[in-house]
Amino acid sequence: MIKVIQGDITQIKVDAIVNAANQSLLGGAGLDGAIHRAGGKEILEACLRIKATQGGCEVGEAVITTAGKLSAKFVIHTVGPVWQGGNHQEDNLLTNTYKNSLKLAIENNVQTIAFPNISTGVFSFPKERAAAIAIKTVTEHFKQPTIIKEVVFVCFDQENYDLYVTLMSNLIAAYNLEKFMEVQSYHFNNAFNEISKGRKTSHWMWFIFPQIIGLGLSAMSMKYAIQHLQEAQQYLAHEILGNRLVAISASLLKIEGKTANEIFSSPDDAKLQSCMTLFSLVTNTNPVFNEVLEKYFQGERCSKTLEILGINEKNQLF
Ligand code: APR
Repeated sequence: MIKVIQGDITQIKVDAIVNAANQSLLGGAGLDGAIHRAGGKEILEACLRIKATQGGCEVGEAVITTAGKLSAKFVIHTVGPVWQGGNHQEDNLLTNTYKNSLKLAIENNVQTIAFPNISTGVFSFPKERAAAIAIKTVTEHFKQPTIIKEVVFVCFDQENYDLYVTLMSNLIAAYNLEKFMEVQSYHFNNAFNEISKGRKTSHWMWFIFPQIIGLGLSAMSMKYAIQHLQEAQQYLAHEILGNRLVAISASLLKIEGKTANEIFSSPDDAKLQSCMTLFSLVTNTNPVFNEVLEKYFQGERCSKTLEILGINEKNQLF
C-alpha cells in the first residue's frame, strides 16, 4: 500500500524512516539535521561507525542505522543527487535512492517505511520530476513479491503534497481504466450484440455500464465502481472506453417499443439509470446519456447517484 501524507517524518510511526543525507553521513541542514536532532547522538555514532568502515555513502546508495530516540526502529540514510540541469544522471541516481533504500529495508525485515521528498530541498531537484520518479519507483517495487506492506510518502511542504496527491490520483485512475479495458476485451462485443438485438441475456452490466461507488455491495460492483465524477470524466475521455459507452448507449436509442426492464430486467434497468445519470453529469458530456434517460426513465435521474455525488437535482439539473 502507498500512502501520501503531509507532515514531519521524524514523528511517523513506521519500521524505518528514510533520511535525505549527504555523502559524509555527518548530518546537515534540512531534514538531515531534523532527524539527527530528534533521534539523538546514537544516530551520529552509528553513522560514524559506517563512515569509519566504508568512508561514507555514494550518491544513490543507502546505509542503515538505529533510529535512536525516534519511534521508528531504523533510519535509512540515502544520498540523493544534486540537481545540475538534468544531464548528469540525476534521474537514475534519484531512482537508485528509492530502490536501494527499499532493498536495505527488506534486508532488515522492515515492513513499513516512510520516504521524504529526497533531493527536493537543498539539492534543488525539480519537485514534480522528483515526485514522478519516487512514485514510479515505488509502484514498480510493488509489482514484485515484497515483504514491504506500506510505503508512506511524507511531504513536508504543501507544493510537494499537492504534487504527490495529483500524481497518485492520476495513477489510480489509469489503473482503474485499465481494469475496464481488460474485462471489456472479452465482453464488449457480446454486450453490444445483445443490446443491438434488444435483450441483455448475460452478465456484464458493471463493466459495460459503470456506476458510481456505493450503489452495490457485491465484489463485482465494488471492483468496477467509478470512484468520483472526475473518474467518470476520465472514463468518457478515454478513446476506447468513452467511445464504446457512447456507442452502446446510442444503440439503446434505436430499440423500439421496449422498456428498460424488458431489455435489462431488474435490477439492471436501475443500474442503467445510475450509469446514464453519472455520465450525464460529466462536464461537456455526450447528449446520448440524457437521451437514454429521456427515452427510458422520463428524464428522471437516479436519486441515489445524485445523493452519493452530493448533487441537489433541483439546483443543478434540468
Ligand atoms: N519531514 C519530512 N520532510 C522534510 C522535513 C521533515 N521534518 N524537513 C524537511 N523536509 C523536506 C524538505 O521540504 C524537502 O522537500 O525534505 C525534502 C528534502 O530536503 P532536504 O532536507 O534539503 O534534502 P535534499 O534536498 O536531499 O538535500 C540534502 O541537505 O540537509 C542536507 O545533509 C543534507 O547535504 C544534504 C542535503
